[in-house]
Amino acid sequence: MATASVTKAKASPPAETAPAVEVSLPNRREFLYYIWGASIIMLTGMAGAGLIWFGLPRFKEGEFGGTFVYSGAQVTDVLPAPGAPPTSVPAGRFHLANVEGEGFLALYGVCTHLGCLPKWVITNRRFECPCHGSKFEINGKYIEGPAPRSLDRFRVTLTFADGSTASTNAAGDPIPLDGKQIVSIAVNTGARIKRPGKD
Ligand code: FES
Repeated sequence: MATASVTKAKASPPAETAPAVEVSLPNRREFLYYIWGASIIMLTGMAGAGLIWFGLPRFKEGEFGGTFVYSGAQVTDVLPAPGAPPTSVPAGRFHLANVEGEGFLALYGVCTHLGCLPKWVITNRRFECPCHGSKFEINGKYIEGPAPRSLDRFRVTLTFADGSTASTNAAGDPIPLDGKQIVSIAVNTGARIKRPGKD
């Protein structure tokens, strides 16, 4: 007679139960405080970034859109004698002219017609545009051609040996030199002065 063998399964120890973690959710008021605080931080950060962005100079010194500064021996290199041909600075797209009886000025070297680059023609003593033939005097004044107005000018600040300074006025008129010695020239290509007409 077969005897049934009964094997008792060993009882496993009761599983340890993890301690209950209490999660406390913020109530409605706390939740609104958090949202409000995060919004203020975000807006303050954006305003700060905007201020820094506008506060930083957009253009470096010596690149078009920024200021070109010449001092010491550089002044001699770029300052034409009265009545001499203007000095062209291609990197700044301007010409420096020392006009007899008028003074010193910086001309924007882009034609006021369709934006070509007029060149100084020594034999004719004037700027001539290669595209449609507009012509301008040494001070940028319109002579003839389809250009609607004289050449624009840039704001210049001169520092003299006696420590005084002079800057281009709002109309862009030449700065009289009156025989003063210039020790520094600063041409701001970010400050273009449009001449209103053909004068
Ligand atoms: S672009 Fe200079 S005359 Fe037309």
